[in-house]
Amino acid sequence: MELYDLVMRRRSVRNFRPDEVPGDIVEKLVNAAASAPTGCNIQPLSVVTVQEAAGRAKLGEMIKRQPWVKNAPLSMIFCLDFWRLKRWAELSGVEFRGHDAFSHFLLAYADVMCAAQTVVLLAESLGLGSVYVGRLPYVADDAREYFGMPTYVLPLMLLCLGYPKTVPRRVPKLPPAVIGHREQYRPLSDDDLRTAFDEKYGAFDGDARRYFGRVLGEALEAEEQGEGEWLEGSRARMAEKAVASNAEFVFKVRYRADLMVETNAAAIDIFKNAGFDCFR
Ligand SMILES: Cc1cc2nc3c(=O)[nH]c(=O)nc-3n(C[C@H](O)[C@H](O)[C@H](O)COP(=O)(O)O)c2cc1C
Repeated sequence: MELYDLVMRRRSVRNFRPDEVPGDIVEKLVNAAASAPTGCNIQPLSVVTVQEAAGRAKLGEMIKRQPWVKNAPLSMIFCLDFWRLKRWAELSGVEFRGHDAFSHFLLAYADVMCAAQTVVLLAESLGLGSVYVGRLPYVADDAREYFGMPTYVLPLMLLCLGYPKTVPRRVPKLPPAVIGHREQYRPLSDDDLRTAFDEKYGAFDGDARRYFGRVLGEALEAEEQGEGEWLEGSRARMAEKAVASNAEFVFKVRYRADLMVETNAAAIDIFKNAGFDCFR
């Protein structure tokens, strides 16, 4: 299959068969992460693979309402790892201060995600499905303790993998004409912007189940795996906030403006606990 077709075929998969992912496949995935592009070829990355029941259960406990976390036969924890570099510098009698510099955090985070997405595509080509779980940094205190990560190791992205039981249909996305800009950035007119989002999200009819079914499979897939709280919680919040449009749904229910800054403060504290004090 052409790589382009593979990239276009990929979906976030949340419903996995229980079959174990064989050791040689896991090895290839880790090798892909270790071979990914990396700023300055410095590799500030570690990947913890989790296949045993205890580790999977612990991840599921930490990340609530997402049953695929405990159901996935393989999870990969992508960590920004300055511990190894700092220790090497110490052993060599030179200074390392990446953890004190936001600019280096940013570069290293880019490294982490280059590696993660390389794994996603390799996994897809090997018949595996995967889904990112972005909540991991907010439970990093717990994750670092359980998985034995020292200071300067920060788990930033969880990738759950396995052989798909079902593959969701494509969720609507903004078209390439909106995302891509030729040579110069071209801001959309208000009318074009409204049209782009209307076409992406479709008519809003106030039905959370239909909305999730069309735009964002997570809540319905969670319900199918015995976790109805997500859908119920969204419904309750829609009623409470009298949500009447797609934008209101996104910014009052799903991607809440009122929580953005609050979450930010919590993340800064958690990152500081891991030795990263470069956000003030
Ligand atoms: C940074 C990031 C965080 C994500 N976090 C979650 C998550 O916590 N739970 C989940 O089910 N999907 C998560 N996803 C997957 C998105 O929901 C998914 O990519 C999006 O709905 C588009 O669907 P597609 O991947 O099938 O194209 C995440 C994706 C990214 C890139």
